[in-house]
Amino acid sequence: MGRSLFLHLRERTEPPDGSPSNRPYTPPAPRSFVAASTVRRSRADRLGAHIDRGAVITTAASLAFAEDHQSEDDHLAAARRRADEVGVVPISPGAGSALSFLASAIGARAVAEIGTGTGVSGLWLLRGMQPGGVLTSVDLEAEHQRLARETFTAAEYAPQRFRLIAGAGLDVMPRLTDDGYDLVFLDGDKVEYGEYLEQAVRLVRPGGLIVFDNALWHDRVADPSQRDPETSAIRDVVKRVSTDDRLRSVLLPLGDGLLVAQLLP
Ligand SMILES: C[S@@+](CC[C@H](N)C(=O)[O-])C[C@H]1O[C@@H](n2cnc3c(N)ncnc32)[C@H](O)[C@@H]1O
Repeated sequence: MGRSLFLHLRERTEPPDGSPSNRPYTPPAPRSFVAASTVRRSRADRLGAHIDRGAVITTAASLAFAEDHQSEDDHLAAARRRADEVGVVPISPGAGSALSFLASAIGARAVAEIGTGTGVSGLWLLRGMQPGGVLTSVDLEAEHQRLARETFTAAEYAPQRFRLIAGAGLDVMPRLTDDGYDLVFLDGDKVEYGEYLEQAVRLVRPGGLIVFDNALWHDRVADPSQRDPETSAIRDVVKRVSTDDRLRSVLLPLGDGLLVAQLLP
């Protein structure tokens, strides 16, 4: 089993971040998919496959292969170890590489992030940004940001490349500059995703990107019987983004799901 697949599967056995740690969490059964052309409907139904939409049905092995497309170096591995130590669930390698790609594709110079953690997503973002670009990252926990600072410094990013703000996302976001960011990445409190969306639309420049992690939330968003506050808030944001005329969006099934929306120019 590849390292990333191990991380991916391990991540799915932990409670969704943001859930109280004393709440029992039953992880979903590992997804197993087979090619649409060879699967019989009864089996496809059992596996949650959508053969009637003409979709290509991805196998667990293919998802792991996609996660491994870009490997992580020692700095990202160290940031993941720090995350483990403080009980933070970082973005998956595949979703991290997508963040980096998106930042690079739009030539991002200014990126805002809610939910610094220990800097896994931040390091992926910094690597995709323009030289001299600044990552502004907000987290409630000063200790997480201390570890993120270690991550960025060890990876040789100068202190002027990252601005770490300790505070609640919804307290800090209203103080950030309108149209001031090329990309806004949301990975804080899942229950607040709806309010993050409103703020992010104001913060991002026309043509810029708003990206949410955990858009599939451990397979719960796609399951209508799951109605806990985190799942409902994320499901609501996914729907709002897909129907908002100001936005063009795609939901990428990397990691725990990456919802990417562009604010139309
Ligand atoms: C899933 S972790 C972020 C992981 C990070 N983006 C990464 O991939 O390395 C969520 C982080 O959000 C922080 N957080 C939780 N609620 C928050 C809030 N209301 N405002 C800001 N940060 C919050 C937590 O302290 C935690 O560090």
